[in-house]
Amino acid sequence: MQKNILIGVTGGIAAYKVVEVASLLKKSGANVKIIMTHNATEFVSPRTFQEITNNAVSVEMFGDTANFIHVEHIALADWADFMLIAPATANFLAKMAHGIADDLLSTTMLAFDKKILVCPAMNTKMFENTATQANLSTLKARGVKILEPAEGNLACGTVGKGRLPEPQEICAEIKKILSEEQILSGRKILVTAGGTVEPIDPVRYIGNRSSGRMGYEIAKAAVNAGAEVVLISGKSELEPPKNLKFIKVEAAIDMREAVLNEFDSVDAVIMSAAVADYRVKNVSAQKIKKSDENLTLELVKNPDILKELGSIKKNQVLIGFAAETQNILDYANKKLVEKNLDFIVANDVTAEGAGFGVPTNIATIIWRGGDVETFDKMSKADLAGKIIERVADLLSKDKKFFPLTSNH
Ligand code: C5P
Repeated sequence: MQKNILIGVTGGIAAYKVVEVASLLKKSGANVKIIMTHNATEFVSPRTFQEITNNAVSVEMFGDTANFIHVEHIALADWADFMLIAPATANFLAKMAHGIADDLLSTTMLAFDKKILVCPAMNTKMFENTATQANLSTLKARGVKILEPAEGNLACGTVGKGRLPEPQEICAEIKKILSEEQILSGRKILVTAGGTVEPIDPVRYIGNRSSGRMGYEIAKAAVNAGAEVVLISGKSELEPPKNLKFIKVEAAIDMREAVLNEFDSVDAVIMSAAVADYRVKNVSAQKIKKSDENLTLELVKNPDILKELGSIKKNQVLIGFAAETQNILDYANKKLVEKNLDFIVANDVTAEGAGFGVPTNIATIIWRGGDVETFDKMSKADLAGKIIERVADLLSKDKKFFPLTSNH
């Protein structure tokens, strides 16, 4: 489990059990960091957690921030993929439910917008108190996951509901929650991005305005969804995303070769690269000198990579892009059929907030079968997420060739 897990430990006697939780998570491959409330440090020493996690334990709101690019609560919230609050005291549940931010842990919670698991542990009466139950309902309604406490002997000498579940049980719940997000786990996805570079001579080339941003965001979204990802990129100034196989190519013919090398082993191809339709027939070995008034370059057609994949595909899902400046839907639909795609993402590259170089896009998805989904202007990262969700749907339900969602 290659995830960054932040554990918030609050002041209950069950804090000692969370040492074991941190240890189990670490053994399963997660990176673990701990924030303790002041009260929690009365039960377990921060040093114990530090030794187990190999990371500094944070307690103070205004401690040393030297290791962080920005303030600690934001840095920790950004770092974590997942937050566990265990044990969660009645007081901390109340603070969470009401958005109170008066120490490092509660402030970090407010800055955290990913999945959270809360493990309440307290005296039965405190747990059953209407106030605590109302706070738990508020949190549930906000999407926070709650692991119900177990019944048994409590530290206060009573028997009832309020015990922190066993560390193994807490870890199993975390794994379950995290695997729910992994909609592409076990899948291999090939993404192409950027523009191809078609040489004229050793110095010049024919290129296009693609930034590569859409494809890089798709590759990132696929990695985050648990897929093994190959990103084949033409020209792009962007930093290659992490945790994927990155192959840099120049001309369309190089991209074709790289794509065909991977094609048999992948479940889906998302072809967002701007592939040049033509290349120079006779690339000059030397820099072309200025001479006559006019220079004529003869261009020959490049292979249409996606069309070729469409003709040889077995079970692979194939997604294309159609960057158009007019008759968007007609052209996109024609390409969808010609290239044998599952769906095509069309956009008017001349529209404000869409197309090359900008961080947003305005897309329309046209499904095989003719259904159309239109999207408002959104960030390329958000659109990438939508595309990945649809690819995962096609793969998991094996409903290729039929639209799964549509506005119509
Ligand atoms: O036909 P058109 O170039 O507009 O089609 C766009 C789609 O086809 C994009 O997904 C693009 O990556 C792909 N394509 C390709 N090989 C080409 C041209 C485009 O794979 N030579």
